[in-house]
Amino acid sequence: MSKKRILIFASGRGSNAEAIHGACADGTVNGEVVGVICDHADAQVLGRAARWGVPSVVIEKKDYPDKAAFDEAILKAAVSFTPDLICLAGYMRICGENLIHAFPDRILNIHPALLPSFRGLHAQRQAVEAGVKVAGCTVHFVGTGLDDGPIITQVAVPVYDDDTEETLSARILEQEHPAYVRTVRAFCDDALHVEGHRVTGMHAKEK
Ligand code: GAR
Repeated sequence: MSKKRILIFASGRGSNAEAIHGACADGTVNGEVVGVICDHADAQVLGRAARWGVPSVVIEKKDYPDKAAFDEAILKAAVSFTPDLICLAGYMRICGENLIHAFPDRILNIHPALLPSFRGLHAQRQAVEAGVKVAGCTVHFVGTGLDDGPIITQVAVPVYDDDTEETLSARILEQEHPAYVRTVRAFCDDALHVEGHRVTGMHAKEK
């Protein structure tokens, strides 16, 4: 099977992007990162892309008159990479519906909460403030709503009495990287199947 072309969307640090790139580079994932689209010119992920020798495109919202024009520019850039898969990796924007319709069941996102709880920004802070005792991360296909779409995998971590947003974020992040890599590997092996809200192919019961 030929390698899947993976396009990363990121807004900041890029540690999930690094995990995906590393897993492609060492052969864990049958894919290659072909580009990075970033909405902040000073994002750390751009330095990573340069180190990998992968092209990046910066598209900042402030350079466009409205969201429709911004979404159009994003779609045009995305299509130019002819990706098989788009991975949102710390991309802090809601994707335009034009992108979602252009790449049905081909856009993944990682969110630092056990969805459908704690959508949106500062999910780890929301979890600490809500007093939940279990938190975690979710990898899902991207739907048209905020942090919405068919769930592929989730990993839970404990929340301790003395946790802060920072300590909980660090515990979740440790699980995000392997969870995202396992999901991208399954996608690239054509192992995932979507039926309505349900995704199969990653969580078969051991016999
Ligand atoms: C990660 O914790 C990711 O789950 C979260 O942003 C962080 C990005 O870190 N994403 C969201 O909150 C999306 N709603 P990274 O840039 O080091 O991968």
